Amino acid sequence: MSEFKGKTAIVTGGAQGMGRQYVRLLGQAGANVVIADVNEDVAKATLEQLNFGERAIFVKTDVGSRDAANACAAAAVQKFGRIDYLVNNAGLLSAAAHRSLIAVDPDTYLNIINIMGHGMLWMTRAVVPAMKAQGKGAILNVSSIGSWQATGLYSVAKTIVNALTISLAHELAADNIRVNAVAPGTVNTEGMQPLMSVEQMAQWGQMGGRPTDRVAAPEEIAKAGLFLLSDAASYVRGQILPVDDGQTIRL
Ligand SMILES: NC(=O)c1ccc[n+]([C@@H]2O[C@H](COP(=O)([O-])OP(=O)(O)OC[C@H]3O[C@@H](n4cnc5c(N)ncnc54)[C@H](O)[C@@H]3O)[C@@H](O)[C@H]2O)c1
Repeated sequence: MSEFKGKTAIVTGGAQGMGRQYVRLLGQAGANVVIADVNEDVAKATLEQLNFGERAIFVKTDVGSRDAANACAAAAVQKFGRIDYLVNNAGLLSAAAHRSLIAVDPDTYLNIINIMGHGMLWMTRAVVPAMKAQGKGAILNVSSIGSWQATGLYSVAKTIVNALTISLAHELAADNIRVNAVAPGTVNTEGMQPLMSVEQMAQWGQMGGRPTDRVAAPEEIAKAGLFLLSDAASYVRGQILPVDDGQTIRL
């Protein structure tokens, strides 16, 4: 993966969970990495732990804010001179608590949709000028197999991610910017742990059709995402790749 060396990636929600694994793998492959997250303390602890020195920075960013998204891209260009990759990973697993679209409080609904859905568009719009100027870029959106299930607000938010992925993949093809998505199954992250125990995660996926009792480690998803960002996936565009141990197998 030497192609990542000297390039620059922005990872939203990079402080913990799957996002931290994208930061780790990209940094280990030689990329400069920007952690764009709202959680300053955890992001700083992650930077310290990963120890990439000057090659990794934190930019406090709420992806639901267009101004913050633009400021994050500007900070990346100012520090590293370019933006080659965007991992749109930030999300709120608390959205899964709102299964009833009829009962959910309207402000909660709009806030979660804005952060989980539209935040990926605001970040994409912020990085496209740099990618266009460089003549190349790759964007990875983090969807979920929940986008194909009746999971209420979470499903609606991730369906927006899927729609953004296919439409932006077409729109940005002319600029040599590839857009793809991963749709993870059940992943043992800091965000999931307050919602259910690892045993419950295992059962939940099996009830949903997964043929194993395996819960993913965050890096198992990030490795698939890195493939989609890399030139190994140069002819892969606008795809939503399930990374779910077979939970959504279909003909
Ligand atoms: N864990 C799973 O089983 C699972 C499965 C499928 C999809 N996903 C998706 O994967 C992504 C990462 O999930 P995770 O399990 O690692 O979650 P996590 O809660 O462990 O991490 C999410 C990160 O996003 C950050 N964040 C939250 N709101 C933000 C905002 N407005 N702006 C910037 N950063 C923000 C948080 O501070 C945190 O660092 C999410 O989009 C989630 O919906 C998770």
